[in-house]
Amino acid sequence: MSDRLTEAESRRASGRSVRPPANAANGADGDPPDPGIHVADNLDLMPRLADGCCDLIYVDPPFATGAVRAARGGAHRFDDRWSGGIKAFVAFMQPRLVEFRRVLAPHGTLYVHLDWRAAAYVRVMLDTIFGADNFLNEIIWHYRTGGASRRWFGRKHDTLLVYARRAGRHRFHVLREGIYRTDGLKRDEAGRPFKSTKKGRLYFNAHGPALTDVWDIPFLSTVSVERVGWPTQKPLALLDRIIRASSNPDDLVADFFCGSGTTLVAAARLGRRFLGCDLRPEAVALATKRLQAR
Ligand SMILES: C[S@@+](CC[C@H](N)C(=O)[O-])C[C@H]1O[C@@H](n2cnc3c(N)ncnc32)[C@H](O)[C@@H]1O
Repeated sequence: MSDRLTEAESRRASGRSVRPPANAANGADGDPPDPGIHVADNLDLMPRLADGCCDLIYVDPPFATGAVRAARGGAHRFDDRWSGGIKAFVAFMQPRLVEFRRVLAPHGTLYVHLDWRAAAYVRVMLDTIFGADNFLNEIIWHYRTGGASRRWFGRKHDTLLVYARRAGRHRFHVLREGIYRTDGLKRDEAGRPFKSTKKGRLYFNAHGPALTDVWDIPFLSTVSVERVGWPTQKPLALLDRIIRASSNPDDLVADFFCGSGTTLVAAARLGRRFLGCDLRPEAVALATKRLQAR
């Protein structure tokens, strides 16, 4: 039996949605309910949202793996099979990407999380829908877990495509982390890093180098305390970084494929409002539990 919800199931699931935040759905005043999570097909939910209501959107859709994704040893699963292959996946994503752009604020940013299977196809669609000028980054999330291959280099990264609604108006905070790898770096009496040049001391930012578009963040191990049993659950550290870089406190952060609610938990911890949506009631139940426990 397919794990995909039938149209009827999906409609019934939509009926159980928590109402969208009043200010997001109608443009009216009022605080969004907490947690703002919906059991729905995101293509049914998004038309109910006002233009430009989301300050940041992160989505981690199915990756077009052609398989049912199940958590190891767990009961939870979602369907990532596409009769029609990549073409069917592209047809599924296209109207959703259009809606993401519509609900994104003029200063907003969209992150679409994919891997080698679909990233190229979605990049071309995003260039068309958002405009190539609004492309900001292709972030490589590198990790080390998983098996090794004897037939090609190990596939150890995911790709996050990042687009601004209007590049130049988008929110962005430089994040600093790690150590400088520059040769001959010294520290002054106050511990500030510098390099001696012919013109004198060249000082470096004491908080470390600015993050680049290659991120080394460990994948959640099978025994991680963060794991809640949803297949393909992403680490909070990844979402923490995205939300800090591309939003401000009180902003509305949306995840229309929220699964176990990683984005929503990270947003809440950082003092942002959140809007989540998933087709599967079990995913929303897990997300709700995580938010209550935080
Ligand atoms: C890769 S998982 C997201 C995992 C999530 N980032 C986490 O950390 O738990 C993709 C999710 O998209 C959901 N999904 C698939 N099609 C959907 C649709 N049309 N509308 C809403 N959610 C959908 C699946 O149920 C699944 O939970």
